[in-house]
Amino acid sequence: MSQLDTQALVAAAKAVLDANWMGESTKPAPRLYPHQWSWDSAFIAIGYARYDQERAERELRSLFAAQWTTGLVPQIVFNPAASGYFPGPDAWGLRDDTRIPAGKLTSGIVQPPVHATAVLHVYRHAQDEPRARAFLAELYPKLRAWHDYLYRERDPRGEGLVYVRHPWESGMDNSPLWDAALARINPAPGEVPPYERKDTGHVDAADRPLKADYDRYVYLMALFQRHGYDEAAIAADCPYLMQDVLFNSLLCRGDRDLAEVARLLGDDPAPLFARAERAAAAINARLWDEEAGIYLDQDLVSGERVPAAVAGGFTPLFAGVPDGARARRLYALLNSPAFAGLDEPVYPVPTYSRRAAGYSPNRYWRGPLWVNLNWLIFQGLRAYGFQDYAARVRGAVVELAARQGFYEYFNPESGRGHGTDSFSWTAALLIDLLAEG
Ligand code: GLC
Repeated sequence: MSQLDTQALVAAAKAVLDANWMGESTKPAPRLYPHQWSWDSAFIAIGYARYDQERAERELRSLFAAQWTTGLVPQIVFNPAASGYFPGPDAWGLRDDTRIPAGKLTSGIVQPPVHATAVLHVYRHAQDEPRARAFLAELYPKLRAWHDYLYRERDPRGEGLVYVRHPWESGMDNSPLWDAALARINPAPGEVPPYERKDTGHVDAADRPLKADYDRYVYLMALFQRHGYDEAAIAADCPYLMQDVLFNSLLCRGDRDLAEVARLLGDDPAPLFARAERAAAAINARLWDEEAGIYLDQDLVSGERVPAAVAGGFTPLFAGVPDGARARRLYALLNSPAFAGLDEPVYPVPTYSRRAAGYSPNRYWRGPLWVNLNWLIFQGLRAYGFQDYAARVRGAVVELAARQGFYEYFNPESGRGHGTDSFSWTAALLIDLLAEG
């Protein structure tokens, strides 16, 4: 791409972020997602870090302003002025909950912990160093409380791995990873509170989760409410508890980045490094699958490994988890027809193995390429020295955004954009990838 084209693309990406900016944070997309989402804000801040330090800081600061007293960072911070989204604030039964800062409305679940990584990234690219240092000092205790919450409340057996208790907590809402666990949930008629979906009014229903899955999502929400969001009570009763590879890899990397923040602030980084090492060892011991050559999720309820090879299975590379031999196995699988071989006409990285029976290149997390996963895999490949493939992963993002626009996800076979257009993290991470040079 010429330098002029690159400049035009960056300008278009900034225009998407400007249009989605709500004053203190950025909505993921204009109509489909009118509130603040947790991991979206972290990815969005990574893009802002390259050209607008103040906005990057405000994005993360506003998210942590809604952090619960337990340390939980909510998946959604609701914008009271927005309507037409399900599940909205009343679906969670959390109005006036004393664990939530006064005046804030949030959902009752989390998203992957990519925030410490984002905060360090903002610091590293800041123009105004003293101000960035003050930002680090402000966010450091909040990030610690967030990671502490996860290890304290989401690792009941002390394994060094935390669980997610709803598919939305993984960020990969309808991933094939959840099929077997969700199939065990068959709510009786009165067990799913009545609800009306809004997503299929905005985008093609064929690209979104099925109704049977949505019923189960709502069933789990009702279960959390019934238990008053008490984590021990939920853990004892919840039919869906998953030790997810992506979530745990991001937490491991998050602790490594938080240790670096501690060092920069003159605090002792050793306990955080030690916790990250423990997480890395647990990911290697419990989530690596020698036969499949990829990391797989562990279903805590059935005690079984989930035999679905998804793009998240490569993300331990982002956390420095695999040794050289395992990294080479991951690379071999990525560079094969199951994902996207270097000489094949496929855009890397499909979110699900193209060899799997349920691979659907248009449906949300069941095949399409997502830019945030590409960003994580790009960083991981580069760190392990797989430069050719890393360049290809980055190149796919640039080409797809330039040809199609800032879509939520893309068909890896045709390159067509799907879901909503003007999607914030697609724009933000493109800006970051182009700034990498
Ligand atoms: C969808 C995605 C999730 C994202 C949210 C807002 O639910 O699956 O990962 O955070 O949209 O963009």
